[in-house]
Amino acid sequence: MRALVIDQTGGADELHLAEVPDPRRVSDEVLVRIVAAGVNPIDAKTRAGRGVAGAIPAYPAVLGGDFAGVVEAVPYTAHPLQPGDRVYGMGRVPRVGGSYAELISVSSMSVTRMPVSLSFAEAAAVPLAALTAWGAVVDTARVHDGQRVLIHAAAGGVGHFAVQFAAYFGAIVTATASGRNADFVRELGARRVIDYTTERFEEVATDQDVVIDLIGNVTDATGTRSLDALRPGGLIVTVPTGSWPTMAEEAAARGIRSTGYSVAPDARTLSVITRLIDDGAVRVHVEQELPLEQGAEAHRLIEAGHVRGKLVLRVMPDPA
Ligand SMILES: NC(=O)c1ccc[n+]([C@@H]2O[C@H](COP(=O)([O-])OP(=O)(O)OC[C@H]3O[C@@H](n4cnc5c(N)ncnc54)[C@H](OP(=O)(O)O)[C@@H]3O)[C@@H](O)[C@H]2O)c1
Repeated sequence: MRALVIDQTGGADELHLAEVPDPRRVSDEVLVRIVAAGVNPIDAKTRAGRGVAGAIPAYPAVLGGDFAGVVEAVPYTAHPLQPGDRVYGMGRVPRVGGSYAELISVSSMSVTRMPVSLSFAEAAAVPLAALTAWGAVVDTARVHDGQRVLIHAAAGGVGHFAVQFAAYFGAIVTATASGRNADFVRELGARRVIDYTTERFEEVATDQDVVIDLIGNVTDATGTRSLDALRPGGLIVTVPTGSWPTMAEEAAARGIRSTGYSVAPDARTLSVITRLIDDGAVRVHVEQELPLEQGAEAHRLIEAGHVRGKLVLRVMPDPA
């Protein structure tokens, strides 16, 4: 099959097209012909030698954490998915994903029918980012009616879902984004948008019950400053987990609860998200779709850190 691979870790130009062996479907796995693949920051981190690069088993390696496509083969006759079904899901995350390719074989737990209201390109933008947002906002923070929730990087892949989920469950959402994204984030359900380029968010948003931090301490001490935005006993969920090693101690010293979060493939939760999308309660924003061979450009864009919503790689034309 055709795949976008790296022969070693390094810069974006390491990504190139190659012919690699088709994956062999085993046991409970579903074989999917990929139409479009999502692009996520972890792909670029891993390509650069960080992220989960330590788990790359061999080269050439196929990156890519999520996808949308068509089922080619299933484990047994009465399986709930059938050849020809339009599906979306996650690759072998947290190992090196494998979705920048024409075929992927993944656990039945990782894949489900895609929303009927979405194109393949839109569907490919959902799984990893939306499951991360759900995991942080719903499963971990248990956000509910009337809570004050501050969400950083609200205009990005994870953030634009996090705002919608928090608002859906009744939270009063404050979000950080640059001014050019203020209207976009407000339309997703944020009550107030703080332009982090001109305002100190912790001076504007105080007494928050929850912070969903998608920046961490990589930029401008966003994690540490978030402690000033929380009420005593509040909760910070830091999603870029490695960015703030002293989080637990710093938060505990202030009487604030803290946790990291790591996403996992989860077809059941993805099916719930499918329903919300098809009901019109949640939407996905794809900023740009690029052909698979322009993966290097996609990585440069994601590394610049200002994508609105998601980037998607087109692997093949939409099937009839
Ligand atoms: N632990 C896990 O399982 C897991 C899963 C998914 C993602 N992650 C991590 O979570 C982070 C977010 O992922 P993502 O996919 O949402 O990234 P993304 O889509 O690349 O985020 C881009 C967004 O970040 C915003 N942004 C940049 N700097 C900002 C700042 N200082 N304050 C507020 N917003 C800022 C940008 O908005 P403007 O253009 O308006 O600046 C842009 O819309 C990444 O580090 C990713 O690796 C972890």
